[in-house]
Amino acid sequence: MGFFPALISWLPFLLIALLQLFKKKRQAKNELNHLPPSPPKLPIIGNLHQLGPLPHSSIRQLSQKYGPVLLLKLGRIPVVFVSSAEAARQVMKVNDLASCSRPPLAGIGKLTYNHLDLGFSPYGDYWRQIRKICVLELFSVKRVKSFRFVREEEVASLMNSLSQLSCSATPLNLTSKIFTLTGSIIFRVAFGKCFEESDDFDRERFYELIHDAETVAARFSAEECFPGFGWILDKLNGHNERVERVFKALDKFFQGVIDYHLKPGRTKQHDDIIDVMLGIEKEQIEQGHVWLTKTHIKAVLLNIFLGGVDTSALVVNWAMAELCRKPELMKKSTKRSSKHCRKQRKTPMLISREVMSHFKLNGYNIYPKTMIQINAWAIARDPKYWENPEEFCPERFIDNNIDFKGQDFEFLPFGAGRRGCPGIYMGTVTSELLLANLLYCFDWKLPDGMKEEDVDMEEQGGHCLTLMKKTPLVLVPIEYIPS
Ligand code: HEM
Repeated sequence: MGFFPALISWLPFLLIALLQLFKKKRQAKNELNHLPPSPPKLPIIGNLHQLGPLPHSSIRQLSQKYGPVLLLKLGRIPVVFVSSAEAARQVMKVNDLASCSRPPLAGIGKLTYNHLDLGFSPYGDYWRQIRKICVLELFSVKRVKSFRFVREEEVASLMNSLSQLSCSATPLNLTSKIFTLTGSIIFRVAFGKCFEESDDFDRERFYELIHDAETVAARFSAEECFPGFGWILDKLNGHNERVERVFKALDKFFQGVIDYHLKPGRTKQHDDIIDVMLGIEKEQIEQGHVWLTKTHIKAVLLNIFLGGVDTSALVVNWAMAELCRKPELMKKSTKRSSKHCRKQRKTPMLISREVMSHFKLNGYNIYPKTMIQINAWAIARDPKYWENPEEFCPERFIDNNIDFKGQDFEFLPFGAGRRGCPGIYMGTVTSELLLANLLYCFDWKLPDGMKEEDVDMEEQGGHCLTLMKKTPLVLVPIEYIPS
């Protein structure tokens, strides 16, 4: 046999030996750095192939094998995934300050005018100032209470229309009704007008834009994952065009609503969120120290747009889907139990954090610039803390004083720590009012021929900030007439 044929026959063994050597070297390096465990990676893509269409579920499976603190390489980006309450507490309480920044991702950077919003801006003086305005002025209990009439009018109008539809006893798309309602409330609270009064913005376009913006906000660009050549993929799959298109549509919309608020002689029933922010800008101009401009206002509007509509709606949608699979529970739903029903364990992963200074997590080193993702979905299903974790059982919250505002780390629907949700009160009053009305005013039946077990509970795949139901919930409303 000649030299080259012999070399070719040995090539596979040579490659295996080289890979083993490479693996050993990497393991030794990891042990030296004492990084969290990682499943084996592939060249270039790292662990990307191990994330299925439901990343929170893939991460839970990997965590069951490798432990609750897991390091994955998404292309070139190292991300630490946390899937236990103890480790989440270490991140969001013990090391909150060291880990409470946000990664400067390009897509969301574009939508937020270079991170001028609250939710995606890096930790620092600006974030502190804008958070203070949001907490004290925009989402405070007093402000949310001042919008009570908006919530009540919108819910009453939905109940009226459902009551008319119930006469024909035909199935209706309840999911779409729920999203329309939370959209209408946010539209009025933030922008001061109803959909009907908006000349160039119909409901369909509004939801499409929210969904597009959520998708952009939750995604890395290929260039971020594969520096140097990822831009070719971004060009081919239309990523850059999508970001640009969504940005332009949002900017036009936000500019339009701000201009509408600045029109001389505009009549208003009540100060909405834009009025409040324009008032703060005016005050700053008078005091000669302006840092909140129209651009900052637009960035905050994006957070309200993303944070306020889908979140409250999907809580109600999942609760109704679960209840119609348990008719006996649906029947005994009272105001008290509607409060418990909306405590859904459907928050997927929290918004990514970025580490600012080194700390240790379960004994592993976590270095600055590492991204951390808390898998709230997996934690809320951990049999260590929850009996029958997969079962919908709102009774588990009765006489159980588990805190849902970020003090108990086995249940994190609103996150925790410095970056916890500032819209908790606004979100909970909306979902509670809607759910209570849907349960009080109607009996809900499944369409003819459908059984409880036929209700599709599949989660929508893909990278998104929220966890949608894959198919809409279709039910028949039967008006409840008290005897
Ligand atoms: C039921 C409704 C809601 C749910 C389930 C929810 C959930 C969350 C979660 C899980 C986070 C991430 C927390 C973390 O990373 O630790 C968050 C952050 C945030 N939410 Fe909400 N939210 C809701 C309603 C709202 C509303 C109504 C608004 C505003 C109108 C809002 C605005 C925000 C903002 C701005 C942040 C980012 C805060 C920061 O980074 O400083 N949310 N929310």
